[in-house]
Amino acid sequence: MNNNENELSHSNFSVDHIAHAVPDIEEAINQYKRVFGARVSDIKTIEKQDIKIAIVSFANLNIELMEPLSDKSPIANYLQKNPKGGLHHYCLSVGDLKQAYGDQKEKKINILSEPTAGYHGRNLYFIHPSEVCGALIEVEEHEKE
Ligand code: CO
Repeated sequence: MNNNENELSHSNFSVDHIAHAVPDIEEAINQYKRVFGARVSDIKTIEKQDIKIAIVSFANLNIELMEPLSDKSPIANYLQKNPKGGLHHYCLSVGDLKQAYGDQKEKKINILSEPTAGYHGRNLYFIHPSEVCGALIEVEEHEKE
């Protein structure tokens, strides 16, 4: 690939959301409301991922609050290390997820799973934190208009 070309064009990826892992989702919702006057969705239980979620909406970004439903939840691990909660991952979305997955696989990027459908029905996968300085990054299909 031509480096020059790379510098001139934007990446195909854009920011979709940031995920905030919390020990108590109702308390987190109250805090976002109190501190920022934020609008927050209803709490949803996602059995498949063993979490409860709620979406905090800002003008240009959604924050996904996640509370584990049990000790087996992948978020439970994180909260053991960060008992007060903390930023868990951020998500970049792309128009053609299959293409992005194929390209990254070809570049031998360490991807944690095959693309699977998230609770919203869009396909997604995660990139291992060792690939980008310790950040866990989710890659998701753009929301259909
Ligand atoms: Co996410």
